[in-house]
Amino acid sequence: MSLLEIHVLGSPVLRTETTPVARVTDDLRRLVDDMFETMHAAQGIGLAAPQVGRLERVAVVEVDREPIVLINPEIVAESGSERAEEGCLSIPDIYGDVDRSARVTVRAMDLDGNVFEREATDLLARAFQHEIDHLHGKLFIDYLSFLKRRGVLARWEDLKEKYPGQRRVLSPASTPSTADGVEPL
Ligand code: NI
Repeated sequence: MSLLEIHVLGSPVLRTETTPVARVTDDLRRLVDDMFETMHAAQGIGLAAPQVGRLERVAVVEVDREPIVLINPEIVAESGSERAEEGCLSIPDIYGDVDRSARVTVRAMDLDGNVFEREATDLLARAFQHEIDHLHGKLFIDYLSFLKRRGVLARWEDLKEKYPGQRRVLSPASTPSTADGVEPL
């Protein structure tokens, strides 16, 4: 396994539509392993392929120590609405309140090529929605009000200096700030 670089806000790949996965290959399995390792090193609870510069439609999520691989995921049912603070591994140190469906059912393929459905609430539901957005070029800051978004982008102008080439390089020992307790996705 190897740690991957995380693309940060401004990298065009984060705004690029992904391509559905036709079949599970060794290359895809390796990518998923590397994504889990990278997500753990960054202390996140979700990571989507575009965040590591790849355009396969695949994401990983881990809430309550349950690793879930989502290949070609789709939301097939959703209900309710819940607002909570959210962060993203591709926009370090920026957080914002986002309204999400409170309950979702996701249909996806697993690494054995089997299609499954999974119902989720709370943080897991939020993680599913955040990662599926990533697979379609969408970021959580897109949901913020005009003023909030403008504030975030102004802060990012300073923060982005830390990420030359719009890449965030992790080390296995790195301990990123999760100052306010929100785990990024
Ligand atoms: Ni994210």
